[in-house]
Amino acid sequence: MAKQRHPAFTCQECGAVYNRWKGKCEACGGWNTIVEETGPAATRPSRAKGRIFPLEGLQGETKEAPRTPSGIAELDRVTGGGFVHGSIILLGGDPGIGKSTLLMQASAALAMRGERVAYISGEEAVAQVRLRAERLGLGQAPVELASETNVEDIIATLSQGRPPALAIIDSIQTMWTETVESAPGTVTQVRGSAQALIRFAKTTGTAVILVGHVTKDGQIAGPRVVEHMVDAVVSFEGDTGHHFRIMRAVKNRFGPTDEIGVFEMSDQGLREVPNPSELFLAGRDMATAGTAVFAGMEGTRPLLVEIQALVAPSSLGTPRRAVVGWDQSRLSMVLAVLEAHGGLKLGMHDVYLNVAGGLRITEPAADLAAAAALVSSLSGNPLPPDTVYFGEMGLSGAIRPVAQEQARLKEAAKLGFSSAVSPQPRLDKAKGSKSERLPLATSAIGHITDLVAGIAARRRKAS
Ligand code: TYD
Ligand code: MG
Repeated sequence: MAKQRHPAFTCQECGAVYNRWKGKCEACGGWNTIVEETGPAATRPSRAKGRIFPLEGLQGETKEAPRTPSGIAELDRVTGGGFVHGSIILLGGDPGIGKSTLLMQASAALAMRGERVAYISGEEAVAQVRLRAERLGLGQAPVELASETNVEDIIATLSQGRPPALAIIDSIQTMWTETVESAPGTVTQVRGSAQALIRFAKTTGTAVILVGHVTKDGQIAGPRVVEHMVDAVVSFEGDTGHHFRIMRAVKNRFGPTDEIGVFEMSDQGLREVPNPSELFLAGRDMATAGTAVFAGMEGTRPLLVEIQALVAPSSLGTPRRAVVGWDQSRLSMVLAVLEAHGGLKLGMHDVYLNVAGGLRITEPAADLAAAAALVSSLSGNPLPPDTVYFGEMGLSGAIRPVAQEQARLKEAAKLGFSSAVSPQPRLDKAKGSKSERLPLATSAIGHITDLVAGIAARRRKAS
């Protein structure tokens, strides 16, 4: 039967499909993003009768998915203990953030332990990849290298001999498959190439990592359409002005999605940071008003970070509100609560909020630390340098308890902090947590007015 081919117009940004060309994509609002593509028709030869397969119950034998740990602890933490055999991981990140560097380090570490590892670069020549490996001091590792972009050739080559434990495809945007007629780099090509590589992974048990570049607005361009096909989506973030790099699982079928891995870019590649709090608090300016230390959690790991605020009289009709590393709408909410319930006048002030070190915080527990930094900056009173803050703020100004209080306090105590401003402890009847000993002195506050009054009292004490 001759394969039927459907012309289709696909948005290169979001993958939406139209049956005629349009200037603007209705799904994502992008202009001039729609391109005509032809792919194989999604019709299968119809079978008169289906094969009958057994259906199973929820109970039964389940085996842990077999994994190959990379040996890089921060990477293994994010994947949930190593690369699951036959799984596909999409690693996204800005160009230049260090994806190729990290994957070369992981490849070399595995290869040194006797595993077969293939590194296929569609972006760089073999000599360039070699040069990087040499710079990283990994020139001796028996990684199998190639500079190739044709997916069929890659699969044919990798299928020879013992299947690799790990295959790196750097990057999926450069790959093309003969089964699709569209130009390389188009959504259809990316999807087709990924499909072929997924099939290869599932049949051979090779763990495949696809590298995907990210566009300015933080989306994995093109490869976004393969997010639902892969087993894990991992993003590698950090701004190039900082040395820290954060690895975060956005989706993970075989592990947690809230763990982060922390790395530092050095002249010898990415170095693991086993105790990130120390790093994020290094160089902290303790005497200035407007900084507060937030005792946060990233997955199972407590993480202390400095939150900096600058509140200054505005010369503009509409004051500026800018935030780096935190949620803009969360800042608006905290400002509104501080005005409505904390008695602060912020309407004529510019407000800037920054999470030091290039970290991005998503936890609502940062509300209280952000509020403390804001109040401190507005009042000009520095906060006590040995105190950490955490707690979620409600619209009424009430400070609500957050999860894992003990872990946060322990980390703060470990790093030499002596007190915490935190929500009233939850009355946990089942565990009787009231009797639990807290690792450091806490002043529990129930309402935002307590925070504002506490910071104002510091001025009176000082003067
Ligand atoms: P790279 O891994 O090529 O980024 P990506 O694959 O995500 O595009 O990293 C490139 C950057 O990393 C480049 O700006 C140089 C820097 N780098 C170091 O600082 N130290 C190193 O040891 C290496 C190999 C790269
Ligand atoms: Mg690269």
